[in-house]
Amino acid sequence: MPSNPAQASNSNLNVGPPLWLLAELTYRCPLQCPYCSNPLDFAQTEKELTTEEWVQVLRQGREMGAAQLGFSGGEPLVRTDLEELIGEARSLGYYTNLITSGLGLTEAKVNAFAQAGLDHIQVSFQASDPELNNAIAGSRKAFDQKLKMATAIKQAGYPMVLNFVIHRHNIHQMKDIMALCQSLDADFVELATCQYYGWALENREGLMPSKAQLVKAEHEVNDYRAELEASGSAMKLIFVTPDYYEERPKACMNGWGSLFLTVAPDGTALPCHSARLLPIDFPNVKDTALKSVWYDSPGFNHYRGDAWMPEPCRSCDEKEKDFGGCRCQAYLLTGNADNADPVCSKSSYHDRILAARKAADHSTVGIADLVYRNSDNSRLFFKS
Ligand code: FES
Repeated sequence: MPSNPAQASNSNLNVGPPLWLLAELTYRCPLQCPYCSNPLDFAQTEKELTTEEWVQVLRQGREMGAAQLGFSGGEPLVRTDLEELIGEARSLGYYTNLITSGLGLTEAKVNAFAQAGLDHIQVSFQASDPELNNAIAGSRKAFDQKLKMATAIKQAGYPMVLNFVIHRHNIHQMKDIMALCQSLDADFVELATCQYYGWALENREGLMPSKAQLVKAEHEVNDYRAELEASGSAMKLIFVTPDYYEERPKACMNGWGSLFLTVAPDGTALPCHSARLLPIDFPNVKDTALKSVWYDSPGFNHYRGDAWMPEPCRSCDEKEKDFGGCRCQAYLLTGNADNADPVCSKSSYHDRILAARKAADHSTVGIADLVYRNSDNSRLFFKS
């Protein structure tokens, strides 16, 4: 990677605190979703942080001004200290969110977490029916468990937040998915089309919807939203469309090192959940104070500001808006994270996005052909 002037000149950038802290407590997970955002080689991750080490991270984050805290994974429920960490987060004054598959959750835990001060639980589903849901999750009991837990969460008084990852094998269920959410009395529904990192990139041809599928789904969401409004329903639908069908890239993470700080299970601190795949050294909270991680580390300063940008981003009048797009996507698709995100039609690598769109129009990859996220498959990606 070329030397980066932004690392040396960062002192004149106005870097605010990390407002959003994501604690990836573990990569362990009972499910095997083929679009998991965990690293492909997650199975070789070193020991997880201890409870005390996580508490230190939470304290330091709050001292720096972090206000939102997400507990995610893997499946955060496999950590036996989750309730303790929630309690600590509450006493520090965080607004806390648990991002879970619902596997491993019980009514007793739902209530205990509420007592400990958890503000918000987001449950992910794979589809609107048990067959497809369980096939994608790689678990026969997943769908029933999710339904049960979604109901328990609502009864315990949390806002009901449901998340569906949308791809070519469930996009035809859009109406059924929204009806299921309504029957569960959901408050917020995130219909998030796959982002192609990690396992999802491995499976891109088998997951990416065609343009025709996407256009149909967008109409269905818009119509359903109008019906909800007309009926006075408060359920909010958020449809996140794939950037692969855009002409300009997303402002990933709202800019590198601007708001988000992720701590991976082994303590590696990252500006986004995917960044550990980049050829950049990132600090570890076990040996570096969070303040120094955020303000001083070369990893976090690497893509702050715009001094690092080559053309076409450097002279682009939209660079303040999208920051050149996603560094991880640029790296994954071009081999160099300095490049403009190929989603941008000004990128000389945009043809790679066009080729992926074309492949999505003709894909014959079935559900059984996908690479599922599990330890055996992860071992295939071990670096020697
Ligand atoms: Fe890492 Fe976009 S996911 S910068």
